[in-house]
Amino acid sequence: MRVFVILPAAGLGTRMAAGQASAAPKQFLELAGTPILIHTLRAFADVPAIAGIYVAVRPNEVERVKAHVAEHGFAGRVTVVEGGDSRQASVANALAVLPCEADDIVLVHDAVRPLIDAATIQRTIQAVEKHHAAIVGLPAVDTIKQVERTADGALITSTIPREYIVQAQTPQGFRCGLLRRAFAEAAADGFVGTDEASVVERAGAAVAVVPGSAANFKITQPGDLELAEFYLARRAKA
Ligand code: C5P
Repeated sequence: MRVFVILPAAGLGTRMAAGQASAAPKQFLELAGTPILIHTLRAFADVPAIAGIYVAVRPNEVERVKAHVAEHGFAGRVTVVEGGDSRQASVANALAVLPCEADDIVLVHDAVRPLIDAATIQRTIQAVEKHHAAIVGLPAVDTIKQVERTADGALITSTIPREYIVQAQTPQGFRCGLLRRAFAEAAADGFVGTDEASVVERAGAAVAVVPGSAANFKITQPGDLELAEFYLARRAKA
């Protein structure tokens, strides 16, 4: 059994660019002097069980990312592929060239979650070995409301007990055969989900949850870079 990683990194980062002079996609912004994508790559490259990492980027960024990958010494283990118009399309493009057997494990991780740690990656792999599908999730601490959007703003329709809620993070891991089947079914039905688990859930598979952490957050909006720098500095001191 081998473990492969897909890093979708073809987003435009429009929420991050809002109100900023620079429109650089967030995965290429620097964190402590190194692009976010390289931090994320390093986190997975440091786990010996991982056989190969596939990064999906926008077509016009393929050459730049290949150069970054070589410059940071990852050339042998990292393959750069073209992403698509949605996160799901980017993952599908990487999956199409992944040399995995049905029983191998595929972990999908947001390129913009650079603070993932080796222990959580290992726990996810172990959970996939046992359950065939597992994602990292953070138990909700806030009370969660379901709302209806109206012209006057949001109106609460119900309160969802928070013990039933986890916030989906990544990595999200699956047996390769299961992920391929789920993606094929989604493509046939025109279903587009915001994560891989939703695609696998609708294919009828049970998906386990591995505890995540607040540090494994998705760099999304202005201010998040400072927060990531804080977590990085704290980790360096530990
Ligand atoms: O936009 P969102 O926060 O959902 O992005 C999650 C991850 O999916 C990011 O790493 C982003 O680069 C990636 N993505 C992608 N292809 C797209 C859109 C998003 O690889 N078309």
